[in-house]
Amino acid sequence: MEHWIDKIDAADSLETLESIRIALFGKKGELAKAFAEMKNVPPEEKPKVAKELNLLKQKLMESFEKKKAELEKEALEEKLRSEAIDVSLYSPRPQSGALHPVMQTMDRIIDYFSSLNFAVEGGPLVEDEFHNFEALNLPDYHPARDMQDTFYFKDGMLLRTHTSPVQIRTMMREKPPIRMISPGAVFRRDFDLTHTPQFHQVEGLVVDEEGKVSFANLKWILEDFLHTMFGDVDVRFRPSFFPFTEPSAEVDISCIFCEGKGCRVCSQTGWLEVLGCGMVDPNVFKAVGYENVSGYAFGLGVERFAMLMHQIPDLRSLFEGDLRLLEQFQ
Ligand code: PHE
Repeated sequence: MEHWIDKIDAADSLETLESIRIALFGKKGELAKAFAEMKNVPPEEKPKVAKELNLLKQKLMESFEKKKAELEKEALEEKLRSEAIDVSLYSPRPQSGALHPVMQTMDRIIDYFSSLNFAVEGGPLVEDEFHNFEALNLPDYHPARDMQDTFYFKDGMLLRTHTSPVQIRTMMREKPPIRMISPGAVFRRDFDLTHTPQFHQVEGLVVDEEGKVSFANLKWILEDFLHTMFGDVDVRFRPSFFPFTEPSAEVDISCIFCEGKGCRVCSQTGWLEVLGCGMVDPNVFKAVGYENVSGYAFGLGVERFAMLMHQIPDLRSLFEGDLRLLEQFQ
């Protein structure tokens, strides 16, 4: 039986050791057989043989446990080796997305007016002529309709050319006082350095009882807004014309590139036009059934703000999906 000790020592895996265990210590194993043989041993020799057998069993058990511990230790080390992680290996950084610079600009504009309690309203992109033109004092024959190179559908519906139809929808749904902005996409047949067929506007409208809303209020809020967006710039209001406001003005800021000295961006004028605004025309109030009220409205192009704030020379570059450009705005 001594040769089993060599067998145990030679075992090179836990599986081999397990088969040795079964053959040696199992119910029908070698040791069990040897103990069964005891019945053939003459009685006077029994104590001696039993003692020897027990000693042998103990020796075998010790070798077995020793080998088992050894092999288990090896197995664990092998497992640790094979599962080790090399933390110094190179791995690419996970890519994270970001809001588009135009949407970031839109959010900043919305934040400003939300903080002054303006409600944020939305409206359909596919409009009818009543909301986009008619109710805004742009009847069929009005020459200003040509200004707004419109995308028409066959059934006479159209892609809204400005966010102003949302003021009509809001006024027809609610009673004054009204204090709202409507940010969103608008569409015109235009495509060059500074125009894309789809762009974004933010419209503003404030309406209250006759005499409660003045041009002075309009002037104050737009000046404060432009200083918030562009910092320490000069702001000027220039008389202008919109069918839906009277009087109307276009608002300029001193050129942020040359600080008013005159450069290519401001066409040597020192000024950049950034807003349209005015007091709501009485015909607009008539169209929505409002009486004895006064109000102001303004509208701005978000892309223009984004271009000026980030000094982006070609508007189209923002919509080509070039990550090298977009990643600069994370
Ligand atoms: N709707 C005008 C445009 O698209 C902007 C505007 C809005 C002007 C409200 C005055 C008042 O150009």
